This record gives sequence, C-alpha cells and structure tokens, in this order.
Amino acid sequence: MTKAVSGFSKLSKEEKINWIADTHFSNPDEAIKTIKKYWNSDAELQKLHDEFIENTITNFYLPLGVAPNFLINGKNYTIPMAIEESSVVAAASKAAKFWSNRGGFKATVLSSEKIGQVHFMFNGKKETLEQFFENVKPKFFSATQSITKNMQKRGGGILDIELRDKTTELENYYQLHATFETKDSMGANFINSCLEQFAKTLKEEALQFQSFSEEEKNIQVVMSILSNYVPNCIVRVEVSCPISDLKEDKHISQEEFAEKFVRAVKIAEVEPFRAVTHNKGIMNGIDAVVLATGNDFRAVEAGVHAYAARNGKYSSLSHATAENDIFTFWMEIPLALGTVGGLTNLHPLVKMAMEMLGNPSAHELMQIVAVAGLAQNFAALRSLTTTGIQQGHMKMHLMNILNQFNATEQERKQVVSHFEKNTVSHSAVVDYLEALRK
Ligand code: MEV
Repeated sequence: MTKAVSGFSKLSKEEKINWIADTHFSNPDEAIKTIKKYWNSDAELQKLHDEFIENTITNFYLPLGVAPNFLINGKNYTIPMAIEESSVVAAASKAAKFWSNRGGFKATVLSSEKIGQVHFMFNGKKETLEQFFENVKPKFFSATQSITKNMQKRGGGILDIELRDKTTELENYYQLHATFETKDSMGANFINSCLEQFAKTLKEEALQFQSFSEEEKNIQVVMSILSNYVPNCIVRVEVSCPISDLKEDKHISQEEFAEKFVRAVKIAEVEPFRAVTHNKGIMNGIDAVVLATGNDFRAVEAGVHAYAARNGKYSSLSHATAENDIFTFWMEIPLALGTVGGLTNLHPLVKMAMEMLGNPSAHELMQIVAVAGLAQNFAALRSLTTTGIQQGHMKMHLMNILNQFNATEQERKQVVSHFEKNTVSHSAVVDYLEALRK
C-alpha cells in the first residue's frame, strides 16, 4: 500500500510526477514516458491546461469529432462532439442527414430561469419570519447591486426571492429560494455570489429585527448554492414528417417502422429500466456537445435526470406519435448552458467549437445541444427497432480491436473487407486476425 503524502500540491509538476511514478508503478520510467508523451510541445498552451485544475500531470485526450448537415430552424450546422464511444458521431451524422431531407429539426427555448437557494435554520414563529422577510426583501436586491450591475446591463439579474417553509420535511428548515436570468453565461459564479451576499444580509438583518426574540435573531445559515435542477430552463426540439417519408430500410415498411418506433418510446415512458438506457442514448449526444463547448456536463446530467423523474417515476425524456399519417418525435429538456465565461473564452478548442457553431447565444446553444440529443435518440431507436444496435456499433468498434492488436495497414484492409459481409464480434475479429497472421 502507498504511504500518504503531505504537502503534495506544493511540489513542482516534475516532483509530483516522480513521486507518482516511484510509488505507484512497477516501471517508473515507463510511467513517466507515458505521462510526458501527452504533454503539449507548446509550453504556453501546456501551462494553460496545467492551470485549469490542481495537480495536473498531463493531458487526457478525447477525440473531437464533427457531425455535419444538422438543419436546425432552417440553418445548417456542423456540430462538434467530444466523445470516446465509437458509434456516437456516426449515428448523429446519419440522423442529421436523414432529417435534413425531411425539414430538419425545429427547436425553441421555452424558458431560461436559473435557481439558487440559501438553506437556513430558524427556531421561532413562522409568521414573524415572514414579516421579517417582507421587510428585508428589498435589501437582498440593494446589497447585491455591485454583483448584479453588469448582469443587468446584459438584460439579466435576480428575478425573484421567496421565503420557503420546509419545516414539515426537516425541523426549523427554511430557504431563500431565488430565481435568476443569466443571459449568455451559465451563471454559476454570478448566482453563488448573489446567494452568499443574501446569506450575509439575512444574518445581519435578523440581528437588528426588533420583533425577533434573542433565539429567533440567531439564524443559522447552512449553505448558499445554486441548484442544478432547472425545470424552468427548458428547450423543446422536434422532428416530424409524413409517415410515407420515413422509408429508409428495405426490410421494413414505413408504417411498421413508425409503429415500432413509437412503441419503443412508449416502453421507455412506462419502464424505468428501459428509460435510463433510452435517456443515456440522448445524453450520448448532449454530453458530447456540452463537453466540446466547454460547458459543465455533470451539471447538465444531474439536472436532466432529475427532470426525467419529476413526476415521481423515472421516465423517457423523448416522446413520439404516429397519427393522421404524420410521425412526430420530440423532447423537452432542461439545459443550463453558457457561451461566455468559464472555459468558453479560455480553452482554444472550445473557442474553435464555438466558432464552428457560428458563436451562438446560450439560447441557440441550448437548441443545438438538445438537437444532438434527439438525433442520437432517433439513431439508437432506429437501429434497435430494425437491425439491432450491435451491427453499427461493432463496425465502428472494429478499429478499436485492430488497434488493440497493433494490426498493420495490410491487415486492416483485409479485416475491414472481410467484415463487410460477416458479423463483427471481438472473438471473430481476433480469430480472423490470428488466421491471417499464421
Ligand atoms: C449506447 O451508448 C446507447 C444505447 O444503449 C441507447 C439506447 O438503448 O436507446 C444504444
């Protein structure tokens, strides 16, 4: 077992690497070589990456792919996607092409409100607390003026602050529940700064409030933090076409495809085990674009899954109908995204991704990201209800297997050609490669 280390963060990068190599690896030189192989030769760029987090030792690569031909609200986009899963970009591109010939994707931002809360404990009369809150409410706004000034210039700011009684769930527990508009920024820093000031004002003003008893004056703030659950920051995306236009696969009629597809979505609506995988497919598209555009995919994941369970049972995010000869497939999801601040102005590849998308506003980015999710879901369901998922997936995975076995160019060509007509499986590829090498 490795011994604990003290003062690690104060060591130089080189010292950190040496310590890790010496204490965790049977071949320290090899470990150092691998770590350094991924350093960028541009020292300034490397420094930028080193400083994103603490204790950086190297860079961790993910492929950045692009999915072209996304027609969204009549505008054509090439969407950047950072993801390691073999078939995701190919599936997105295929779905984009399919729908670009059928009117494209329609996307609308329905709302863009963010939420933050000051959680506090108050031991006393609720009515006196309510009276106090109404009294000090304007002070929450005035005390945060230096923080909100710039946001207000951009059309954003604090929308409202409510006092919420949560004492039936936890003794003495109340909240300041605040809503915000943060325009093109995701708003985490802005919201958290406002909340911390609210907390300060809350405590200070309570001490001065005449109607409070000594105990009531002593408000205990537990924490002040934004919520990643944003059910009022919603984007809607949709595709639709006449059922007769759904023809793609020679083995299945348009009507049968529409019926199977709608049923597959219905299953995800009623069955949580299926819904989680169904939604995971949506997140394949969403996370890849969120990551490529420097946004916080953990925040998006947390918020989206909470939304999928908002009615008390985890369910599908997307929905489909085939009625009156029209196939419609849509979803509404919460997405708190930013196109300014955070990594967006800092990471050169994020800047490039943003430019590729035409430097979108946060609303436009919400639409693009949601479209990538719906496209991914469409591609997955199309495969699942027709050929099955493995055919396309293993075709893409073939390259990973070939790399794993260090296949030569010649071997690659032979293997790819062989598996155009044969089913790809890990063992089938290995067997075929071994036979070739004999
Ligand atoms: C794989 O990453 C995603 C799928 O499982 C999604 C789905 O089942 O709908 C194919």
